Amino acid sequence: MQRVISLIDMDCFYAQVEQRDNPTLWGQPVIVVQHSRQGVEGGILAVSYEARPFGVKRGMSVVDAKIKCPQLNVCHVPIGEYADKADIQKYRDASAEVFRVLNNFDSAIVVEKASVDEAFLDLTVYTQQKLDELRENEMIEDFVRTAIDHLPTTYLANGEDCKENDHLRERFLSEYISNSQESTENLLLLIAACAVEAIREHIHDETQFYCSAGVGNNKMMAKLVCARHKPRQQTLVPWRYVKEILRMTPIGDVRGFGGKLGNRIQEELNISLMGEILETEIHLLIESFPDQHEYLRAIAQGLCDEPVRPRKESSSIAVSKNFPGRLAIRTVQEMRKWVEGLTKELAKRLSTDQMENKRTAENLVYSLLTEEGKPQKTLKINNYQPDILLQQIWTAIKPQNKSQNQGETGPWTPPVLNISLSATRFQPGIPALNRTISGWIEEKKHKKWVRKNAVYDENDGREDVIFEEPPPPKQQKKICSSKPSTSTIGSVEYIILDDSDEEEAPPPPPQKTTNIDYITVDGKRISRQAFYHLPPEIKKQYEHRMALEEARQMKARIDEKRGGGGRKRNGPIKSDASNRSKKPKPLESFFKKKTTNL
Ligand code: CTP
Ligand code: CA
Ligand code: CA
Repeated sequence: MQRVISLIDMDCFYAQVEQRDNPTLWGQPVIVVQHSRQGVEGGILAVSYEARPFGVKRGMSVVDAKIKCPQLNVCHVPIGEYADKADIQKYRDASAEVFRVLNNFDSAIVVEKASVDEAFLDLTVYTQQKLDELRENEMIEDFVRTAIDHLPTTYLANGEDCKENDHLRERFLSEYISNSQESTENLLLLIAACAVEAIREHIHDETQFYCSAGVGNNKMMAKLVCARHKPRQQTLVPWRYVKEILRMTPIGDVRGFGGKLGNRIQEELNISLMGEILETEIHLLIESFPDQHEYLRAIAQGLCDEPVRPRKESSSIAVSKNFPGRLAIRTVQEMRKWVEGLTKELAKRLSTDQMENKRTAENLVYSLLTEEGKPQKTLKINNYQPDILLQQIWTAIKPQNKSQNQGETGPWTPPVLNISLSATRFQPGIPALNRTISGWIEEKKHKKWVRKNAVYDENDGREDVIFEEPPPPKQQKKICSSKPSTSTIGSVEYIILDDSDEEEAPPPPPQKTTNIDYITVDGKRISRQAFYHLPPEIKKQYEHRMALEEARQMKARIDEKRGGGGRKRNGPIKSDASNRSKKPKPLESFFKKKTTNL
């Protein structure tokens, strides 16, 4: 049986994170730049889609980019709070938000984190379940008839789906849909495409980030076609078009062929397209790639059986810093300064991980790269407090100084070229000793029940409502009084309604949304007032979340002023009327949106 696989990739990810942090940057050309080293501006890491038509590209110098696009907004990757190195934590946090949505969407979907901004989804089981449901309820025809309305940003990769043919998007897709009942494979892909549209919309609703996706029968094809219609769009590649697509695909565009292997194939066989691998005489292929020729021919035909491996959390958390050449560490003070900075950085990341993943590391491995070797040692850790960790690590590292002087000053030999600290062996749960955010929250949560939703503050005698349950989920717009048949694909619940039975559901209760007087953490709300009573180290970790919430609300207000629609998916940045969701057809009343239960 064919598998059904999708690859979701965030659009200009770091740039979107910056745009969300500063909503005035939405819709503007933005680049994200590596922090400068010794006065030299770092390279460009991410380019917003608004800046791309000017020719601004990753890797370009900021000066060149500004010449191409004078109105360019330049954002910098923050420098670590404790160590003088790039701090990509805010992009990691944003990534975690996206993965929270993906991991909670449906338990039948397998999610593999492929990078900070992309995930493979195995939808094989999910789509089969949905197809069975549709069949049981005799809803296939209705699903097929209205599928186009649930695919507002979907392209069909048929080899002719290029930019020049944008106006044919809907025609190609409609043709595919109308023939989809010819095979189960096609129906499954169609269901997957509807689900991925819904998943992408959920990601946007929950995080404000836009993404693109590919849907196909394996990882390689899903990844390949994801890039075909970016940004804010998705591409479906039915198996019968795979060969045609690959025939014209540059070798370097295929996953795993962008580097050395891809270059070698092009140079040694003197070819540039994937299809040319199949045209190469077999003995030439064997001669140049004796161990890989079969694999290469398989890939050129679009065959790839690599499984989607659920990988939700990393098995280690590490911080590391290089000191190459003359930057090598040569004094005890310098060594102490860096060990301290890296330890604080690590402690911060461990605390966040502890709260996110409800787990605690048991071991800490330090390793040094010196001019004479690579000493390393594993320490048992039982506390994430930076001061305690530092004391433990420093005590262990100090004997690595082979100079005569063993004090807190003087030379360090041999010179150190790299320091790495890595926390490993994560165990589920949070030890009571470890009073971090999560511990603190648990404690307050406990008080909540004792004091009926209030926390008593010993210092000023005031009672603060600190935890509230999140607002009730949105009501389904219409309800059906007769027994409905239902089937859910993505977030869309298909309900058979007898029109005469329709009645409006009561309006949802009013929600406080104007002033931000709370932030949501782990599904609970913490009031702004209560926030100021948090211990300083905990407060710091929440400040970032507060800023995000504020940015979210500011963006909503700006969108409202601009005429609304900011929370809706507007389709591609370029104007493309054909890409917008169609006006509801009469049959649309047949389909209802399911309330989100994330
Ligand atoms: N990134 C990086 N260094 C690289 C490649 C990527 O720091 N050499 C970061 C980028 O800043 C980027 C994110 O990882 O925002 C994801 O990379 P990628 O998906 O390749 O590019 P995007 O910027 O997301 O753009 P696109 O819309 O083309 O996917
Ligand atoms: Ca991306
Ligand atoms: Ca990516």
